[in-house]
Amino acid sequence: MIEFYKMLISICLLLAMNAHAESLEVLHWWTSVSERRAADILVERLSKESWEWKDAAVPGGSGLGAMKVLKSRVLSDKAPQAAQLIGPAIAEWGDLGLLLELDEVAKQGGWAKSIWPAPYASIRLRGHVIAAPLGIHRINTLFYNRKIFKQLGLAAPQSWPEFERAAEKIKRAGFIPLAQSSEPWQVATLFEALVLSEGGPAYYRDLFVRRRANAFFDPRLGRALERLRALRRYMPDPLTEKTWTQMAKMLAKDEAAMLIMGDWVKGELNASGLLTDEAFSCVPVPGTNEMHLYSIDTLVMFAGNYMKQAGQEKLAQLLLTPAVQANYNKIKGSVPVRRDANVRLMDSCARSSWQTFAKGSTVQAPSLTHRMASDEALKDAIVAQVHRFFSDSQMPVSEAQRRMAGIVRALGAEEKEP
Ligand code: GAL
Repeated sequence: MIEFYKMLISICLLLAMNAHAESLEVLHWWTSVSERRAADILVERLSKESWEWKDAAVPGGSGLGAMKVLKSRVLSDKAPQAAQLIGPAIAEWGDLGLLLELDEVAKQGGWAKSIWPAPYASIRLRGHVIAAPLGIHRINTLFYNRKIFKQLGLAAPQSWPEFERAAEKIKRAGFIPLAQSSEPWQVATLFEALVLSEGGPAYYRDLFVRRRANAFFDPRLGRALERLRALRRYMPDPLTEKTWTQMAKMLAKDEAAMLIMGDWVKGELNASGLLTDEAFSCVPVPGTNEMHLYSIDTLVMFAGNYMKQAGQEKLAQLLLTPAVQANYNKIKGSVPVRRDANVRLMDSCARSSWQTFAKGSTVQAPSLTHRMASDEALKDAIVAQVHRFFSDSQMPVSEAQRRMAGIVRALGAEEKEP
């Protein structure tokens, strides 16, 4: 009998141990130097709570590979405990009952008050909190190399005519005016910044959030497409499918003078030892001053494994603490989702992003390419179409507009704004 109780006690102890000091598998696409370092802030903080972060990183800028791996794992019942999921997909997956509700964590942390309205709305479904947002990236960012600009006596361009004058001079001096890859998501990232520049946030939302097919025939979209094509003469020739970190390197090595990309580039330049406002600076893309094209990196927790729930809740709680928000975003290049972040500790790029975002929804536009504006189907179809237009100099602008309107009609137009 005593032996039996001894055995029972050791089984209970084993179970208790298993339930604790466990690992959480986290799937994401942060594999560049700065992305890795930013993720390590979270890894270290979690380990202080006796939870090990088991890394499931899938390389590939903008997360194309990661999303495919995540979907197939969820479908084969092998969901990780946490994953990077962005924008409307969060509510879609929540609707399928896949995500852990974090209401208690959110309540304890006062998330409703401390998080900006846009990120807070993106993690809610029918009154429940189903994700934890990390940071806000600004996509309409133009980085410029200060050394080249100084050498040529140029000022940061505030308008497209200024941009063109600078680009011509840079080209004549033997530098590449605008670093750019032909990778489809990188072309689309530039395209959406140009759409915002031509049309502003309300028109941008008509296209990609409200999906108004008629809006695709508007001359403002035509002008954005024309500019996308015209900018080719300032890009590397030949144009190849390089990674975004290679684009950042072109700027870092004084090969290229400018780069239009999300501000994760700032994180990468800082990680390579280049300081903001010394080696490079950033300004909003011409025509988008006081506008914010955003993407919000967010983690969801998958429901169903009760042994891991305490760890998942701990991770969610940690992500929103002021210290983690400040340290992670500083390295990542984004800005905190918390309204009480200390703006005095931010560099000039972050400060500009933060102060613009704070102006609210009328200046904000959700990134299509980075999954904030629509579902995967519309995003993938528009990105492919933009890339086709960009690669085929013979395709008339009106043809590209017609094709995009066709995509929106086929996928079901006039969606309600979330
Ligand atoms: C974005 C993501 C960023 C950054 C970038 C490059 O979609 O939100 O965190 O990783 O892709 O991969």
